Amino acid sequence: MPNYLLVEGPEQGVQLLTLNRPESLNALNTEVLRNLSEALDDAEADPEVHAVVITGSRKAFAAGADISEMAARDLVGILEDPRVVHWERIARFTKPIIAAVNGFALGGGCELAMHADILIAGENARFGQPEINLGIMPGAGGTQRLARKVGESLAMHMALTGEPIDARRALQAGLVSEICQPELTIEKAIQIGRTIARKAPIAVRLTKESVRKANDMNLAEGLRFERHAFTVLAGTADRQEGLDAFREKRRPHFKGQ
Ligand code: HXC
Repeated sequence: MPNYLLVEGPEQGVQLLTLNRPESLNALNTEVLRNLSEALDDAEADPEVHAVVITGSRKAFAAGADISEMAARDLVGILEDPRVVHWERIARFTKPIIAAVNGFALGGGCELAMHADILIAGENARFGQPEINLGIMPGAGGTQRLARKVGESLAMHMALTGEPIDARRALQAGLVSEICQPELTIEKAIQIGRTIARKAPIAVRLTKESVRKANDMNLAEGLRFERHAFTVLAGTADRQEGLDAFREKRRPHFKGQ
């Protein structure tokens, strides 16, 4: 089976996953998504991995779902699409994912980027949901996550016209947290991953889960979840270490306990 993913690391707690299907601008066929979800299974189980960076090429993060593969599927084929389980796997990954996006992030590519917890974009990045041009619509979060991230008006604009937005607009809209020169995007994402890798792993995990709840729950429920998670952390050795280290004016040594 072809492998469309380069896996590097973990180095200083960060695993780098690079989509590698250049002949079709990293179009996400079933195999690419399987490679990705299997790599995330491994990263989830590996205690040395504290954050994952997902990137593509300079020209394309990913130009969408593989259109040829999609064309071969009828209604029943789409209903039983094996890619759905891979999308779900990416969505329930418990460690932080940072997307380093250069070039095209279109359709499923934009949806994949939005599965990340932090998005860093090169100045050449283009985010879009062009499915409408194909007579279809987004199917992996491109209406739901996009609307939550950039607001209804811009999400409607993007999904109904198919027109992409550039990196600067994506930054203004809150889709990405930072933009930088394309050649620095991956390094920037890795640096963020390394910063996170030095934190207490259980606190990182619960923080990710809690921030995500802001999209899933109303404020009262979300605040209850946050308080519960905050309380759970009181039982961890790393919390004691963090508080002790501050008072002893030294760096904490977290152990994930
Ligand atoms: C399959 C693709 C592809 C895709 C590009 N290619 N995007 N193959 N699926 N999504 C292939 C092209 O066919 C071509 O192969 C090669 O990659 C290079 O692409 P070009 O078009 O020649 O490059 P360029 O002129 O630079 O244009 C780049 C582009 C354009 C603007 C990104 O490729 C494009 O519009 N691609 C489609 C984008 C799109 O509509 N994405 C949404 C897909 S639907 P050959 O063999 O000809 O050289 C989707 C639904 C998600 O994502 C649903 C999730 C459940």
